[in-house]
Amino acid sequence: MSKTMPFLFILLFLFNKAMTQNYDESKVPDYTLPEVLKTESGNVVNNKSAWEKVRRPELLTLFAENIYGQMPKDFDSIRFTITNEVADAMDGRAQLKQVTISVWRMGKSVDIHLVLFTPNNRKKPVPAFLLINNREDSTMDATRKIKSEFWPAEMVIDSGYAIAAFQVADAAPDDKDTYQNGVLQLYPKQLQADNGMKAIGAWAWAASRVMDYFEKDKAIDAKKVALVGHSRGGKTALWAGANDRRFAIVISNCSGNSGAALSRRKFGETIKLINNQFPHWFNDNYKKFNDKEDALPVDQHELLALIAPRPLYVTSASEDLWADPKGMYLSLWNAQPAYGLYGKHAALPTEMPAVNSPIIHSVLGYHEREGIHDLTKYDWNNFIQFANYQYYGK
Ligand code: GCU
Repeated sequence: MSKTMPFLFILLFLFNKAMTQNYDESKVPDYTLPEVLKTESGNVVNNKSAWEKVRRPELLTLFAENIYGQMPKDFDSIRFTITNEVADAMDGRAQLKQVTISVWRMGKSVDIHLVLFTPNNRKKPVPAFLLINNREDSTMDATRKIKSEFWPAEMVIDSGYAIAAFQVADAAPDDKDTYQNGVLQLYPKQLQADNGMKAIGAWAWAASRVMDYFEKDKAIDAKKVALVGHSRGGKTALWAGANDRRFAIVISNCSGNSGAALSRRKFGETIKLINNQFPHWFNDNYKKFNDKEDALPVDQHELLALIAPRPLYVTSASEDLWADPKGMYLSLWNAQPAYGLYGKHAALPTEMPAVNSPIIHSVLGYHEREGIHDLTKYDWNNFIQFANYQYYGK
């Protein structure tokens, strides 16, 4: 290789990056967001009944058709098996349960493995946080030999909440060649359809099966379950929360493109970039919108609106421009009309809040953490404060 070759490669790499992603606010194109409350036929809904009967189902269908795929609800049977139980985990502060959730359909089955800690010495069922774990298994170590900020189980237990997690790979391996080996075995027709669910749909489906379990566990207050996801898990939390209204609170951490961030801003990651790198996350129809954001009948603020009237918390990180912090704040801001229909008024400032200045006392919460793309104790601490405020007003 000649001496100039490495430089040529670097130049090519930089040129390629510059061509594919924008980090310059002045280059964000002019765009018009689809109106949350305006139906496809042009009527503006102005009350919650019309929202729930007409516009909400319409939006859910648009997201299923064009982005995340269908969300099948039928299965033949579900079984919960406690595989391990420890009464005095965490030095006696918590009870550990490991549960295998087995779901059957047409002779095929899938197993979701849940790790659940509930605080001891509580008489009433407790509210819970459920993490969609898109990191390694050790992140949710049941033995607590390994402790990770990504799932700070001790901290959540000491705050009086149950804490649970499941591994996304149980539902669908995060791989373009093998994502079919999980939930999709139960729904083979999804694999043939342009609007069929793929990995993110399968992960969201699994979160709902965990909710099926929570409804049966007397230690858990299933009416107070907060669903948490980071990044690809954050996209999943939003989609799961939009579909399954049993989740009382939805928390999207650094979810970025095709999560909380507005696609039409084309800042950082774009639809084309995400589809090219992760073809197994979204349905095939979504590929039609590569470089055609304005043709999408929805934008991501409408996904957030589907969580209404339930509390929703969105985060970003100052060094995570790929996920477009400003685009996530604008998205949250633009979800407000749906909350307004329920008489819920968010305390969001017009200007995006400064770094490390969380908005907690509001039905729509937000923070931009200083630092990189990650899920940390700082984030979790704010989630706990947010839940305290929503459930107990403090
Ligand atoms: C990639 C991807 C993002 C995603 C992130 C993650 O960076 O481009 O869309 O959110 O991975 O899941 O960590």
